Amino acid sequence: MDNNSAKVFKIGFLGMGTVAQGVWRHLQDNKDLMAKRFGAAYELAGVCVRDSSKKRGVCVPEDKITTDPMEIISDPSIDIVCELMGGIRQAREYTLAALKAGKVVVSANKALICNCGAEIFSAAKKYDGSYFFEASVAGGVPIIKVLREGLVANRFSLIYGILNGTCNYILTRMERENASYESILKDARRLGYVEADESLDVDGWDSAHKISILAYLAHGVWIKPENMLIQGIRDIRIEDLRWAKDFDRRVKLVASVRKNEHGAVFASVCPTLLPSTDVVANVNGVYNAVSMDGDIVGRTVHIGRGAGQDATASAVIADIGDAIKYLLGAPMQLSPVSDTLVNLAGLSDISACFYLRLEVKDEAGVLAMISAVLAGRNISIELLEQRKHENAGRAWLMLTTHITTEDAIKKACAELESLDEVYDSPFVMRIFDA
Ligand code: NAP
Ligand code: HSE
Repeated sequence: MDNNSAKVFKIGFLGMGTVAQGVWRHLQDNKDLMAKRFGAAYELAGVCVRDSSKKRGVCVPEDKITTDPMEIISDPSIDIVCELMGGIRQAREYTLAALKAGKVVVSANKALICNCGAEIFSAAKKYDGSYFFEASVAGGVPIIKVLREGLVANRFSLIYGILNGTCNYILTRMERENASYESILKDARRLGYVEADESLDVDGWDSAHKISILAYLAHGVWIKPENMLIQGIRDIRIEDLRWAKDFDRRVKLVASVRKNEHGAVFASVCPTLLPSTDVVANVNGVYNAVSMDGDIVGRTVHIGRGAGQDATASAVIADIGDAIKYLLGAPMQLSPVSDTLVNLAGLSDISACFYLRLEVKDEAGVLAMISAVLAGRNISIELLEQRKHENAGRAWLMLTTHITTEDAIKKACAELESLDEVYDSPFVMRIFDA
């Protein structure tokens, strides 16, 4: 052993919730093995929480608990700070303070990275530190390492997949059991999948944060949620899942970043109809899948548990191992490199075939009205089907379109919504055949 490896690295935690407790437990239970793998011993040195009296699933000695984050951040003996508290404002403040104090920071906080990644990465550089964030995307799937290291030779025309475990868990159980959305969400929360603010999951924001990170790593550009198309899963009905099944497709919340032939990139998070033969379509429950088309490697697909205590802890522990290796003198990770200046594509540059479900008055002339609106936008209908509605006098209308643009669909839907014969806004899904 050299001098460095005799050092015991001290790890401090900001947050001791679902993820941090998993990290704590596995690092505590496997100290010798992990130290061997990391190349140095470590100590779980301190924990900052909001409520120090809360009962936790792991035993943290009382003298290691504080409610003052600065006790962890400014403790000169602490080498690695794990930010596992979530949120943006305070997490940003403490992360920047920890980097400034010379700590290596490990985080699973995708919302923070999506919103403040540029600032954090530049602070890490400025203070000659490092910031590790493997657990921020796809839970236990080491997708960031794969993208930055294993696939470094490639340019990526398309990255798509399932990036939210909660949504995939809900959709899978809705499809299999016809269970109510609320009861499934309750189970997902009990299993530790759901964000403190559940709308981050079900409204698509969490997937948007994650695809933003992948887009940055692949293309070197930060795409903010306001520049993406984001739609969550709240409006998906059993009728849509049944329709999909009848047409040999499955509904998934798909996050994607695509580079078009002009080199412009576009990111979106949308309920999507995938062919039932697509590998990603068959990834169920809390599992995530990331499919990446590299110009050299071709397509690779990576699957694993995307949320929950142990899966996420696995990724955080891998980062702690890398942090220790970095502190022992291993080189920094590779930076994302964009080979050209990348532009963002607009809605009129993005084409797809679409599925629309409309709740309409069941009376003469309605179909003609709807097809006139679509024709007015040059949208051609591929399939059209009317299904029975639970209320007399109403009908469900399911239709698919030939290829058209996001812009045309958006405008057509606004027009359809304004018709007296159409109840509510049309529910839209993209049809994906990659
Ligand atoms: P969590 O269970 O809500 O735990 C958050 C922890 O942070 C709690 O211990 C809380 O303290 C502490 N905390 C929050 N605000 C604080 C503040 N201002 N000062 C001090 N402590 C504070 O969250 P989680 O599920 O473990 O998630 C943690 C992070 O990992 C988030 O960024 C999340 O997005 C990310 N993540 C989660 C998963 C997952 O499956 N759960 C997967 C991947 C990534 P108290 O306990 O005292 O309230
Ligand atoms: N709430 C997130 C999910 C946790 O369900 O995917 C993992 O990032």
